[in-house]
Amino acid sequence: MNSFGRIFKISIFGESHGRAVGIVIDGCPPGIALAEKDLEGDLARRKSGAKGTTSRREDDKPVFLSGVHDGNTTGSPIAVIFHNADVISSDYDMFKDVPRPGHANFVAKKKYDGFSDIRGGGHFSGRLTLGLVTAGVIAKKIINPIDVKANLIEAGGEKNIDKAIQKAIENNDSIGGIIECRSVNMPVGLGEPFFDSVESLISHLVFSIPGVKAVEFGSGFKAAAMTGIQHNDPIISISGKTKTNHAGGINGGITNSNDLVFRIAVKPTASISKTQHTINTKMAEMVDLEVKGRHDLCIALRIPVIVEAATAVVLADFMMINKTIS
Ligand SMILES: Cc1cc2nc3c(=O)[nH]c(=O)nc-3n(C[C@H](O)[C@H](O)[C@H](O)COP(=O)(O)O)c2cc1C
Repeated sequence: MNSFGRIFKISIFGESHGRAVGIVIDGCPPGIALAEKDLEGDLARRKSGAKGTTSRREDDKPVFLSGVHDGNTTGSPIAVIFHNADVISSDYDMFKDVPRPGHANFVAKKKYDGFSDIRGGGHFSGRLTLGLVTAGVIAKKIINPIDVKANLIEAGGEKNIDKAIQKAIENNDSIGGIIECRSVNMPVGLGEPFFDSVESLISHLVFSIPGVKAVEFGSGFKAAAMTGIQHNDPIISISGKTKTNHAGGINGGITNSNDLVFRIAVKPTASISKTQHTINTKMAEMVDLEVKGRHDLCIALRIPVIVEAATAVVLADFMMINKTIS
């Protein structure tokens, strides 16, 4: 199941070392100006190259197969692919029998009877998020004037990201991080009560980003230790603006016009060169593993723009749902 959305529907496909990864976006309105250069900024933010990211280099050039003509979306499905080129698949051969702790190798082998593509993480690779970023660029145009921004606010438990990365490099280990996402110029009324609440659907899409382990909205887990008078956000304007924003901009699953604020926790990268214990499934014995090859040391560095995309896709879908019922 690789699809998400009610009206603005996305389906991602591909494997890290297959011919390409990509996305099909269905339900996109016609007449949205869209050129390849519109994708450049967000795709560059997802790219590797910075300290603490993988040495795999891809040009991440989008190839539009359908749905865009004369610089505008046409209203029919938009299919975009990204070719894979810089692959060293032999680095992954051993994981067929010796699964990396913390990665999807073991569960993929069991679930797909050994047929899943293990090269570069296969379908579980962070490379699949290229499509999500693409959908995010289009969704950001649809939700304008809402502006979504996410930032890495902490890595490896440190506010000083560079220091944390340097420490992890010296320790030959990986680290995680916390990303905060804030959407401004929010209207009242996006989201549905219960199953399709704003929290539910943002969490749903954000948890599809490989490596995301937790999400909290507004004051999140801290709310449990607050009293009602501390946590309730006093309403100070007729438009619904509040003095504080412990609710993170959502009441009853519906946006309340205040900034939509949430944070996510990203785990440390599974692939590390330190010695780890795992199994050899063929020999049915315990073995030691030191992962070689090219990996991100802190995947959280590359995730903020993906979180923005996930948020924009969810908000675009909610806007389109509202249009069908008003
Ligand atoms: C942009 C991005 C890059 C990633 N790079 C790596 C990597 O280099 N090595 C690795 O082991 N996992 C990497 N991951 C994470 C794996 O895809 C993910 O940890 C794995 O599928 C299992 O994680 P999960 O249990 O959280 O889904 C990356 C994820 C993202 C979003």
